[in-house]
Amino acid sequence: MAPAVTKAVIPAAGLGTRFLPATKAQPKEMLPVVDKPAIQYVVEEAVRAGIDDILIITGRGKRSLEDHFDRNFELEYYLEQRGKIHDLGEIQALAEMADIHYVRQGEPLGLGHAVSVARKHVGDNPFVVMLGDDIMDRRCTVLADMIATFEEYQRSVVALSEFPIEEISAYGVVRPETVTDHLVRVLDIVEKPQPAAAPSNLAVMGRYVFTPDIFQALEQVKPGHGGEIQLTDAIALLLREQEVYGYVFGEGRYDIGKKLDYLRATVELAMDREDLGPEFRAFLAEIVRKRGLA
Ligand code: UTP
Repeated sequence: MAPAVTKAVIPAAGLGTRFLPATKAQPKEMLPVVDKPAIQYVVEEAVRAGIDDILIITGRGKRSLEDHFDRNFELEYYLEQRGKIHDLGEIQALAEMADIHYVRQGEPLGLGHAVSVARKHVGDNPFVVMLGDDIMDRRCTVLADMIATFEEYQRSVVALSEFPIEEISAYGVVRPETVTDHLVRVLDIVEKPQPAAAPSNLAVMGRYVFTPDIFQALEQVKPGHGGEIQLTDAIALLLREQEVYGYVFGEGRYDIGKKLDYLRATVELAMDREDLGPEFRAFLAEIVRKRGLA
């Protein structure tokens, strides 16, 4: 029987230059969205999709990431003494969500390089890659759907979303062949093409399921766009050896490394919260009215 997908790799070693100065002394993956750091949403999404072994790729200045998922006995004692049982439960649950491991990238040489650092941990197993700065709405089941697709085809699967062509040059873009409603076969993939050269308007989002063969491809990749080792270039190499699929999904993804998307995530996720939502929605309605925005 083919091995199940139980491992995830979360690259979180980038410099986050699009979110300076907030990211000068703290990782962007630790930026709070409502009241949780972005990476916690990513880990929770992995756990919901059946992943129980997570490797976070970290780098310089990323210690707070490790502390966040570790026990903090002093804080636990403090909360217990004051009878803050709900908070205590949440803090303890964080350390028990999954088996979380860390490895350092050394130098931020690109996303492809960050993934290659996971090779020893992943071994000869299929695995998921989830970008540490891409968060999904709870209702978005794209990761679980991609894992189900992998189980059916035993081939790598990338998440895809349609984008307006004028925004496409910020992403990896595929040339697709339709398979079913949500599924395409990837015929080609290019990193950050100019709109006129883009093979479609389907852009790769921060979720991937890979066969372990991606590591051989990563070994051969030379620095590409921006002088970085690009994961997209490794996928292009993998395509020469085996089929790769794309799972097309709609809404629910936020790139919190981008200031505008970060604000969208904060507003939309707060609106959906049972505890904060009603008051926050009323506040937004009031602001819209006061400022004449509608
Ligand atoms: P990004 O390209 O969005 O991250 O990579 P970045 O380089 O930190 O951002 P900017 O462009 O300077 O603002 C997507 C994910 O891959 C990780 C990042 O931490 C982010 O979660 N990454 C990127 C690495 O782990 N290592 C790298 O060398 C590059």
